[in-house]
Amino acid sequence: MAFRASLRLAAAARPVAARFYSQAAAVPTSSASSGTAAQIQRDAALPNPDPAEDSASAALVREHSPYMVATYARPPPVFVRGEGSYLWDIENRKYLDFTAGIAVNSLGHCDPEISTLIAQQAKTLMHASNLYYNPWTGALSKLLIEKTVASGGMHDATAVFICNSGSEANEAGIKFARKVAKTIDPSGAKHEIVSFQNAFHGRTMGALSATPNPKYQAPFAPMVPGFRVGTLNDVAALPDLVTPSTCAVIVEPVQGEGGVRVATDEFLVALARRCREVGALLHYDEIQCGLSRTGTLWAHSHLPPEAHPDILTTAKALGNGFPIGATLVGRRVVDKIKVGDHGTTFGGNPLACRLAVRIVERLADEGLQRGVVRKGDLFREGFERLRARFPDLVREVRGRGLILGLQLTEDPARIVKAARERGLLVITAGTNTLRFVPSLVMSEEEIKEGLAILEEAIKATRE
Ligand SMILES: Cc1ncc(COP(=O)(O)O)c(C=O)c1O
Repeated sequence: MAFRASLRLAAAARPVAARFYSQAAAVPTSSASSGTAAQIQRDAALPNPDPAEDSASAALVREHSPYMVATYARPPPVFVRGEGSYLWDIENRKYLDFTAGIAVNSLGHCDPEISTLIAQQAKTLMHASNLYYNPWTGALSKLLIEKTVASGGMHDATAVFICNSGSEANEAGIKFARKVAKTIDPSGAKHEIVSFQNAFHGRTMGALSATPNPKYQAPFAPMVPGFRVGTLNDVAALPDLVTPSTCAVIVEPVQGEGGVRVATDEFLVALARRCREVGALLHYDEIQCGLSRTGTLWAHSHLPPEAHPDILTTAKALGNGFPIGATLVGRRVVDKIKVGDHGTTFGGNPLACRLAVRIVERLADEGLQRGVVRKGDLFREGFERLRARFPDLVREVRGRGLILGLQLTEDPARIVKAARERGLLVITAGTNTLRFVPSLVMSEEEIKEGLAILEEAIKATRE
């Protein structure tokens, strides 16, 4: 296979670390150079064996990690370059990327047009602050509203607050909802925010308070007061969950981090109806599932207008790797937010916004969206083959378009490592779920190659 051959070539050309880090290159780069006989044998059979203790990668990690707050457990490779669907590590090993930086690099790594735009805008104007106008913050806001309405989603979308990340976009949504409710009922009684089990809305205190995962919340308790938790897709529970005390409900139309769980259309319609009944705002968090990842601009674009949100948040793919987030609001919100209510130093800077304008134009393309559906089907066919071959392991396939989850009966950690050592990057979600959120422009050939590697990796963990 061409991909296999290129992996071997990359392995043969390994000592190129010097190009990136001369100090690291002084350390032997062959991961097999000082291992046990078993390790040497194993490494020889793998295109990308994880870098060993005496590798350039390990030397670099040893030097840097004492200075890095240990919030992530990372595997050994050190990535230095990306192009399209591929990443290369410091030892010039090539990896097919089924993760796209956690649903971020939807146009692939280092898209040439976006890289050129970054360079151009970096030489023109990067930041002047929100105290002044620039051409791009407004252009992005206008484009997001126009494309959203044209997509058939959020028909009431009116204005946008631009920030720097998903958490920050949700934080703005939560604050806006509280402000709207307080304007309507100054007593403050209408202040509850409802979210759902397995949701993930971010790590800042407001967004975290809507993320009911004890692993994320417990070390930082107490949470912000006034948050309640319901069960996704439980229509019958809505009357008791969403009440006149509710100021907003926040929900991912497709939960990502929580295990790729799809909210049913029936549930979202009933939820929206209940929100209107009690005067609560509906907030869709499309930070992971939005921007054409499901095959329409927004994951809710196909829903009837009555199920459209009052607040819609996006981030991740909006900058294709450059940090940016946005909170779209409808008429019920926009008039209640006044000068000074909220702010950000970096949010809406001309560099990020200029990139996002082009990225939104490209991601809103119907041809790209049709491709997402086709590619999603290709993944599903591959998953069904895996289910037939490994019936004890693969329990369920979930998701839409190119946000897909493979529910396994065991911890996927060994499969993730086996795939990486064969040149494929995959990530997990929820409990025992493999998550697939590749670039939306990945070719069908690359998808087939990746699925073949995944199958080999699973087989290796069964032997
Ligand atoms: C649905 C959803 N909301 C919010 C966030 C938080 O975004 P960020 O990490 O950019 O703060 C994420 C990140 O994974 C997400 O998937």
